Amino acid sequence: MIDLGQFKKEAKNSISLVKNTSDLEKWRIKYLGRKSALSLFFNSLSKLPLIEKKKQGQKANVIRKLLSSLYKEKRAGIESNSSFSSNFIDITRPGEKVHQGHLHPLSLTIRDITDSFQKMGFSIIEGPEIETEYYNFDALNIPAGHPAREMWDTLWIKSEAKSQKSKMLLRTHTSPMQVRFMETHQPPFRIIVPGKCFRYEATDASHEIQFHQIEGLMVGENINLSNFKAIIEEVVKDIFKQKVLVRFRPSYFPFVSPGVEVDIKLKKETKKKIQDTKEWLEIMGAGMVHPDLFKRVGYEANRWQGFAFGLGVERIAMIKYHIDDIRLFFSSDIRFLEQF
Ligand code: FA5
Repeated sequence: MIDLGQFKKEAKNSISLVKNTSDLEKWRIKYLGRKSALSLFFNSLSKLPLIEKKKQGQKANVIRKLLSSLYKEKRAGIESNSSFSSNFIDITRPGEKVHQGHLHPLSLTIRDITDSFQKMGFSIIEGPEIETEYYNFDALNIPAGHPAREMWDTLWIKSEAKSQKSKMLLRTHTSPMQVRFMETHQPPFRIIVPGKCFRYEATDASHEIQFHQIEGLMVGENINLSNFKAIIEEVVKDIFKQKVLVRFRPSYFPFVSPGVEVDIKLKKETKKKIQDTKEWLEIMGAGMVHPDLFKRVGYEANRWQGFAFGLGVERIAMIKYHIDDIRLFFSSDIRFLEQF
């Protein structure tokens, strides 16, 4: 049996001298631990008669509660001391993993394509998504009433302003930048124009109401479709990191002559031979810039030639990442997006 009063006095005195956590822990073990005099006191209570046991037990409990609260107080005091906190940095603790964001598959694809064209000397230009009827259609040989307007289902913007010369719309393609750029620059040049386009179309697995195109325009002397084919072959090889076959099919766009659709076919090189892996896939419309456009911007039509193309970005991303529904790009489905 211990003298509880003496024990309490000693514990109180000694905790007042404690300055750090390791001393505090020693104090805790000595006065509150399982082998402390207090615990042994509790164990020995069983030998006492019932009334005495109750009396001594209550006394010892009061002391235990007091010492526990002294301990907690001391601990909080030490921890709030800044010199203690800086001493207590546990440098062995593994760092918390920072969740890193990542680029959308369309941003990745636009980057891949623009990087590839930049390597070949193309500059990147941007243009407005809200466009005038003039640049989107008229300047591209598609006046009002021209049947080709049917090719681009348009989202028109209502405007009350009477002074406005040309109606406003959401651009249906990136081609308006052809005339916009030529109006303010002289050849030779080579540019690409990545950007968002909008069409008033029913959506399905390969058509969206909003999508991205990359327009290309190269104007100089003696430029021809062979130059275009060579450049495209190089770019698609760079984007898909494998051999790609490119073919032209005749097509019609009022602002080019001749006009073509460009198809690609991916080929995989096995140890023995080159194998066809896919069908022909259409990736863009293109052609030689129509002389009307050169005249419209004041170029000497006899001197300059150029090619232009409009590449569908979603189409390239779908081929590259094996995505079978264009609507996934804008679904904000995290399970889809986390895969890139
Ligand atoms: C055009 O938009 C022309 N401006 C392309 C062009 C540029 C021709 C320069 C000649 C010279 P087209 O409507 O075919 O063409 O669209 C080009 C590409 O955009 C298509 O091959 C397709 O990949 C993509 N595209 C068109 N409409 C949609 C849509 N609703 N959803 C997703 N991609 C689309």
